[in-house]
Amino acid sequence: MTTQKELIAAAQKARQASYSPYSGYQVGAALLTDSGRIYTGCNIENAAYAPTNCAERTAFFKAVSEGEKNFLAIAIVGSPAGEVTQFAWPCGVCRQVMMEFCDPDGFEVIVAKSETEYQTRKLAQLLPEGFGPSNLTE
Ligand code: THU
Repeated sequence: MTTQKELIAAAQKARQASYSPYSGYQVGAALLTDSGRIYTGCNIENAAYAPTNCAERTAFFKAVSEGEKNFLAIAIVGSPAGEVTQFAWPCGVCRQVMMEFCDPDGFEVIVAKSETEYQTRKLAQLLPEGFGPSNLTE
């Protein structure tokens, strides 16, 4: 079984690929599926700014585009370039993308400074009363 530490290590590695020449803020994410696969992502910025994609959404879009639909957890490591000095909680847009594919009461968001210093929240804590696919099918 994949541990929180392993997922954090995968996010740290993914952060090394961050393409962030404009903000200098480097983020890596590692998304765990219910079959035990890990999809990683980094933030990818753009000279036109708006097309920038966050690390979390890069990981989700890689996974969903490979046919994955069931996710257990995501680890996120983000900070200005260099040593990770802060907890990088996911932005609102990324929380909404998580809401699309994850059970808000089950999906675990792990935000880490290191493999030993991290915090976890359920998606429902980060996006209370969220709007999701079930709203459209009732
Ligand atoms: N960023 C992420 O990758 N994830 C987040 O949840 C928040 C922000 C990125 C986007 C941009 O490249 C940089 O961090 C600064 O906003």
